[in-house]
Amino acid sequence: MARAGDTADLVLRDARLIDGTGGPSRRGDLALKDDRILALGDLSGMRGAREIDLAGKAIAPGFIDVHTHDDRALLADPLMTCKVSQGVTTVVTGNCGVSLAPLQISTRPPAPMDLICEDPDGFFADFGNYLGALDRDPPATNALAQVGHASLRVGAMDRLDRAASGTEIKTMRGRLEAALEAGAIGLSTGLFYPPASAAPTEEVIELAKALDAYHGLHSTHMRDESDHIADSLEETFRIGREARVPVVISHHKCAGVSNYGRSEETLGMIEAARGRQPVGLDVYPYVASSTTLDSVRGMQAARVLVAWSKPHPEAAGRDLKDIAAEMGLSIEAAVAALLPAGGIFFSMDEADVRRILSYRHSMIGSDGLPHDVHPHPRLWGTFPRVLGHYAREAGLFSLEEAVRKMTSLSAQRFGLKDRGTLRAGAYADLAVFDPDTVLDAATFDNPKQPATGIEMVLVNGRVVWQDGQHSGARPGRALRRQDLDAPRFNGAGGCGP
Ligand code: ZN
Ligand code: CU
Repeated sequence: MARAGDTADLVLRDARLIDGTGGPSRRGDLALKDDRILALGDLSGMRGAREIDLAGKAIAPGFIDVHTHDDRALLADPLMTCKVSQGVTTVVTGNCGVSLAPLQISTRPPAPMDLICEDPDGFFADFGNYLGALDRDPPATNALAQVGHASLRVGAMDRLDRAASGTEIKTMRGRLEAALEAGAIGLSTGLFYPPASAAPTEEVIELAKALDAYHGLHSTHMRDESDHIADSLEETFRIGREARVPVVISHHKCAGVSNYGRSEETLGMIEAARGRQPVGLDVYPYVASSTTLDSVRGMQAARVLVAWSKPHPEAAGRDLKDIAAEMGLSIEAAVAALLPAGGIFFSMDEADVRRILSYRHSMIGSDGLPHDVHPHPRLWGTFPRVLGHYAREAGLFSLEEAVRKMTSLSAQRFGLKDRGTLRAGAYADLAVFDPDTVLDAATFDNPKQPATGIEMVLVNGRVVWQDGQHSGARPGRALRRQDLDAPRFNGAGGCGP
């Protein structure tokens, strides 16, 4: 690819090249020109307009955060510091059934849609206009957007506590198809949440059937991640099979003390299903989840922190038990007094988190909530925590494997062309980090902390993060499904990437 006499814009020298495939890293140089990688390996014969000696620091493909709620953050806080400071260069939005488009409303949206936007005017009736807004005022990271099922329901139904009628399904499907046409990558559901929990499996299948023609995929925050998780997995597999679409199980977990240890069973089910159909999953590296505070019911959480509260902003960051005691209320009454509110729920077993993280097909997704006052630390810490805590310190897997779970595996699953691996011709989305020191700094007490050891981050060839500082550049792109190599459902034995 690189010819003698080629001048690179930038040559990064003497790096540990971790190419994203999971194969062993090697020592070498990497050159880039414009928005692409020009060459890598021994580039002693190549000159760069700028050269940096990395003295053995690692270069990996920029990390892909496959599970985000950054829909509005990309517009409201386009520097995306919480993500680029971790080495993240692409985010997938519209998860858990919640998306900023397509939806037109005139009142505050129901929970959990208010996690991404409380203002009815913040939503986009037209999905293409949402992507257009990102084009005009680009963020620092690339973005790939899904359509949320709850957003479709809120826009098409007068009440949400029932199944959609045939006419309503037709309306939703028309809006979904228009969004896919405009560049959406797929449809997400949050069947766990009130806006969609009354939707029968058949409603989702009818909508998901629109995806095949567009090579779209379906991701899901399943109906139940707790006592009935096996039924929910079966439901997810059925949706994939009947609609003939690849499915992604979001933030896979076994929630509640009565389900501790069940990841052995759930991963077994996923592995078996993968022999029949394309199934992927993502996971975040923490034993606590975070969502709207009213979800505390049935959560079996050992401890609950308040992430935000509209009527009681002073409650953010505090223990729900303490607040209830001070208010002289039961837990349920305190929750009611705090709503609308968000919570952080300690409801998982460390052994399950490790088993799911280690599963070969698990991708890393933060599920970070960028608008929370006291967010779960996953928003700022997910990727460095997998690299530093789980790969280096706990030895769950090699650094190369950790990188694969956040780069090439994710790029294949979502069809991201020319991203997710280091090779000549690929986009220069890069994360440069110190393998010996990379670590999350965000904690449950102090969650808005940039990680350590992330030295330099480039998006489409431009530096967005260096020396612990944002460069101010916003070279991110709104990626369209049309430009991707999205995977397809190909029937029996076709387990896809
Ligand atoms: Zn979710
Ligand atoms: Cu989510």
